[in-house]
Amino acid sequence: MGVAPVIPVLVIEDAATARPLAQALVKGGLRVLEVTMRTGAALEAIQEMKKVEGAIVGAGTVVNPDQFAQVVDADVEFIVSPGLTERLADPIIASGVPFLPGTATAGDIMRGLDLGLTHFKFFPAETSGGLKALKALAAPFYQARFCPTGGISLATAPEWLAFEPILCVGGSWVTPKGASYEQVEQLAREAAGLRR
Ligand code: 3PG
Repeated sequence: MGVAPVIPVLVIEDAATARPLAQALVKGGLRVLEVTMRTGAALEAIQEMKKVEGAIVGAGTVVNPDQFAQVVDADVEFIVSPGLTERLADPIIASGVPFLPGTATAGDIMRGLDLGLTHFKFFPAETSGGLKALKALAAPFYQARFCPTGGISLATAPEWLAFEPILCVGGSWVTPKGASYEQVEQLAREAAGLRR
């Protein structure tokens, strides 16, 4: 969460695009790459992206232990989930792979703290009340740190990043559909330049 201000959330349909996409993102300054487990190409995409020097490749949208087993086999460097269940969290925590589970309520954060976690995704960020909601939630949980994701853009990221408990934000805006690798590199450069 401290490597770059933005974690690109990637939905890869064609594994052949994964490596040049990762190269463009890393060249632009975004080294931490979240490949969502929403497509048949995701596991192969992870393997391709891991070949890119400097890339820190993790799996996103991991929602059950079966997917956890798959991404551990793929040797991912971190795991992101949209929500927090003990069924998923227990094996991930036991494995030692860094885990960023989604939270949207005080109960979610309390469950995470009970499990020994302190770093959370706030998801879906904008529709869960935006920065105002996270500020209210973060107040009692002084030890928690967040990566809001969902509905965030280059224009809105700075106000999120200005709030101290937020270490980075996630988003898909750096890889819009149909963008060239040059465009992705430029979008990554803008995102990497955001101040925390
Ligand atoms: C997702 O899981 O799709 C992420 O939250 C990305 O959201 P975004 O497309 O609104 O950036």
